[in-house]
Amino acid sequence: MPKQPLDWQRKNEHIFLSEKFYQESNSEFNQLQILAKSIPDTSTSQINIQFQWQDQLPIMSAPIYINAMTGGAPQVTEVNSQLSKVAKALNIPLAVGSMSNYLRYPQEMIIKNSYQIVRQNNPHGLLFANVSAQTPWAKAQQAVDLIQADFLQVHLNAAQEIVMSEGEVDFNWSQNLQTIIQNVNVPVIIKEVGCGMTSQTVQHLQDLGATIIDISGRGGTNFVQIENERNHSLDYSFLNDWGLTTLESLIDIEPQNLPITILASGGIRTPLDAIKCLILGAKAVGIAAPVLHSLKHQGLQQTIINGQKWLQQFTDLMTLLGCHNLQQLSQINYRFKGDLWSFYQQKYCT
Ligand code: FNR
Repeated sequence: MPKQPLDWQRKNEHIFLSEKFYQESNSEFNQLQILAKSIPDTSTSQINIQFQWQDQLPIMSAPIYINAMTGGAPQVTEVNSQLSKVAKALNIPLAVGSMSNYLRYPQEMIIKNSYQIVRQNNPHGLLFANVSAQTPWAKAQQAVDLIQADFLQVHLNAAQEIVMSEGEVDFNWSQNLQTIIQNVNVPVIIKEVGCGMTSQTVQHLQDLGATIIDISGRGGTNFVQIENERNHSLDYSFLNDWGLTTLESLIDIEPQNLPITILASGGIRTPLDAIKCLILGAKAVGIAAPVLHSLKHQGLQQTIINGQKWLQQFTDLMTLLGCHNLQQLSQINYRFKGDLWSFYQQKYCT
């Protein structure tokens, strides 16, 4: 197993570098201005923010999930263990990080444990497995089975692979994505890893059979930046702004007009950011680096308390908007400012 130490090391480096580049806020969200109500005609006790991903699945506290981060190395087992405790305490779903290391070394107990711990800690919680786009469908099913996942995330990370010195640069993915969607026995979420998606990509994925898509846009964790820091032979910093931001993706895609489920992630740092994504038509919102950041600096108990406060503030915002349930968010009016307004104009006003 010659590559194993390198595969392990990468997992640690991703966590270290995401923290190194971590930013507490994402100013792009200021460019979406909600037209607030002065008379909301409701109270916090009348608000329901619960969210059910699909019939038969348990009802979650909110349309929020902890997005894919880690697994596949002994040093990150404790991180996954803590993430699953946060997810359980808040009653929200958790996605594990890429399960490629498990699929590469399926007999290695130490690798298996780093993923299985999330199911052991949360036997009835909602879990997402995570594989790369070139994973053969039977292997993707194996990843789902290992943690009895309720959904499978398949990540699209072309820019990351280009910048990684050890990246896999064959991006002939379409056929395989279709095969995964058709054969795996749980619903599949196709996701980006922080470069966003255009309406064209979303249409292409729909043509392949995708029904749930996480556009994971730019604005938060930036894998071009992270891999560029790891790559000591070539400088790709000119790609730092590759792709679309989370809000640009949502504007381009217009989720409210699509027959499929759009999820938003990438740079969501406050409950207000999350609400804005839902107003633009996302059905749920994923958060990754902020949870790691909180665990590192404040520990498990405080991270759970921070999460509870977050959900409380989310409810407060719904009250302020006069929305009794999540569906009513689609009726909220808003305006775009600055760069977002010119992005919108170029798409819809020419
Ligand atoms: C990630 N992300 C990620 N995504 C994925 O599909 N598979 C993976 O293995 C990983 N690994 C990973 C490691 C670390 C340390 C971080 C912080 C993130 C990407 C993640 O799911 C999400 O799409 C982006 O991080 C954007 O969200 P945030 O971090 O800005 O909230």
